[in-house]
Amino acid sequence: MAESIAFSKDAGREQIYAELLPQIEALIADEPDLIANLANVAAVLKEAFGFFWVGFYLKKGGQLVLGPFQGPLACTRIEFDSGVCGHAYSTRETVIVPNVDEFPGHIACSSASKSEIVVPLISGDAVAGVLDVDSEIPDDFSTIDAIGLERVVSLITPQLSSTPA
Ligand code: SME
Repeated sequence: MAESIAFSKDAGREQIYAELLPQIEALIADEPDLIANLANVAAVLKEAFGFFWVGFYLKKGGQLVLGPFQGPLACTRIEFDSGVCGHAYSTRETVIVPNVDEFPGHIACSSASKSEIVVPLISGDAVAGVLDVDSEIPDDFSTIDAIGLERVVSLITPQLSSTPA
């Protein structure tokens, strides 16, 4: 297993996502444990982009429960109809929030978070959880992040069927 990742520090995000994808694919290829892989994916995204908070919420019973993450401590449980995470879970679509203060029901785990993107983890017919990324910079996410993060998530989804519901 690689012990570090390589990326062009001065490049734009689109290029960095392109550089990371094959490395993430290689990183998780030989590791069957979902939690271990989610932990490393969160670490890679945090290192490469310096996001304020990167992490996963996983469906457990009737809620989204905090999974592997990088960043300050966060809310542990989110209802399916609450917050940006719940919205992405319920709609099964990536949600970009340029200004979290203007999103009805946004759950403020930290007042430092100003914008957010949440990508659902879709496994077959079910949503197994979400990838949540927060930024301290307003309007920090674009379709480049949506596409890049959806590609990252698509590397993980084959493992999701092993996630306990
Ligand atoms: N802001 C999220 C909650 C999770 S934290 O940002 C880590 C939401 O509204 O769902």
